Amino acid sequence: MKKILFVTSEAHPLIKTGGLADVCGSLPKALAELSQDIKLIIPNYQALKTSESVRFLCSLRVDNRNINILETRMPDSHVTVLLVDYPAYFNYPGNPYVDEQGEPWTNNAERFGLFCRIAVEVAMNRGHLDWKPDVVHCNDWQTGLVPALLSLEHDRPNTVFTIHNMAYQGLFPGSAAAELNLPGKLWHPAGLEFHEMLSFIKGGLVYADHITTVSPTYALEIQTAEFGYGLEGLLNHRKEFLGGIINGIDLDQWNPETDPYIAQTYTAATLAKKQLNKSEVQRKFALPVNGSVPLFGLIGRLVEQKGIDLIVECLPEMVALELQFVLLGSGDKVFEKQLQKLADLYPEKIAIRLGYDESLAHLIEAGVDSFLMPSRFEPCGLNQMYSQRYGTIPIVRKTGGLADTVVDTLPETLAQHTASGIVFNEADSGSLLEAIKRTMILYSLPDAWKKMQINAMNKDFSWQNSAEQYLVLYENL
Ligand code: ADP
Ligand code: GLC
Repeated sequence: MKKILFVTSEAHPLIKTGGLADVCGSLPKALAELSQDIKLIIPNYQALKTSESVRFLCSLRVDNRNINILETRMPDSHVTVLLVDYPAYFNYPGNPYVDEQGEPWTNNAERFGLFCRIAVEVAMNRGHLDWKPDVVHCNDWQTGLVPALLSLEHDRPNTVFTIHNMAYQGLFPGSAAAELNLPGKLWHPAGLEFHEMLSFIKGGLVYADHITTVSPTYALEIQTAEFGYGLEGLLNHRKEFLGGIINGIDLDQWNPETDPYIAQTYTAATLAKKQLNKSEVQRKFALPVNGSVPLFGLIGRLVEQKGIDLIVECLPEMVALELQFVLLGSGDKVFEKQLQKLADLYPEKIAIRLGYDESLAHLIEAGVDSFLMPSRFEPCGLNQMYSQRYGTIPIVRKTGGLADTVVDTLPETLAQHTASGIVFNEADSGSLLEAIKRTMILYSLPDAWKKMQINAMNKDFSWQNSAEQYLVLYENL
């Protein structure tokens, strides 16, 4: 049994802004189910919610500040949660990274710098918890200073750093290194410095004993200039210690047989009932209720990564086809405006909901026929897996985890019972439109469509396999 300290800035259901939370909520649970002794450490944000009781554990002193550690539990699990309680940094409305106006907190370097220092204290068993981990598993830039600081300690635990997204690196002015009191030994171009800036993510990439990312394809992509953002050389240099482990999904939370958020539960054997969810989506989005028109959907952050510009370009041509499209998301204000304008122009075909809505996300997964993910890059992506579990056919661009989890529908893959979606290559609106047309042809062939749905629903996206791969990695460190 390994003792694992799992360091993250978000974890569902405590706090979530995206897929990082889904993964950091469900992977620790899967590791606990494999009988590992795991504690998750996370800042105690004002917006953090827990149904479990919270108790005071201890107080730590770092940089002349007193920080309390509180203890709670991940709902429905044996995973202990350590909350880093420092109200001056974390007790504000807004999300972990931005304020209520959507502006990044001006003191993000200090906030996550302090969080990392506390994680190091706990990792070195200086928090009087009488528990010293064998492995410290860090996630994304917010935790990047942990492997760096631990590298200076004697008799330290091993470190793993998981990249969920290379596009977010935690870059701050170089002066932040001194303000954060970082040891001079870490401040050089082969360390935390990146073109005279302080790079949190480099702390993980340079100093962690092992680096993982969330799909095998993305592990290769980030070693190229297109996806590496200037860090491809470093990643290539460390490739012996870099690998991809595909994310799993929480099969209890995303289960069409029991999902409390959908209008009608169903299974692969009762697929016809999925239609009731389609009508409910059409009603909720004020579109004509029509069972036979193909309904396309998209849920996600409205940012360039997700190929939203391709959708905006494609929609005026899509409306010439017999289809409907619903979208739930928020993000870039320019995209929000462009989408709203199109929805106003074509109210019979396009409907959007700007904002974040967990229950509507479940209903869309259950109700639409096909789910669009034309991402420019996608480290793993979760919605294409949720879609398949709900018998909803994903249309994805062949990149990152999308390439690893969706099998394109071709005569041979249909014959082999593996076809589960539509895959296209180029990041342009013409290729996307072609993929949509191909989907509509398949939709008009009920037998082929049903086969794709059943193949998709039968796929195994559980954590079991991936959690075991992490365990093997921990053992080999
Ligand atoms: P990323 O982490 O890059 O945003 P993922 O596909 O890994 O992408 O995960 C996104 C997660 O966030 C999914 O669980 C998705 O359903 C959820 N999500 C994104 N936007 C919204 C929204 N507007 N409302 C509800 N859930 C959302
Ligand atoms: C990131 C990526 C997404 C991935 C998620 C969880 O947010 O953008 O592709 O699924 O992390 O690993």
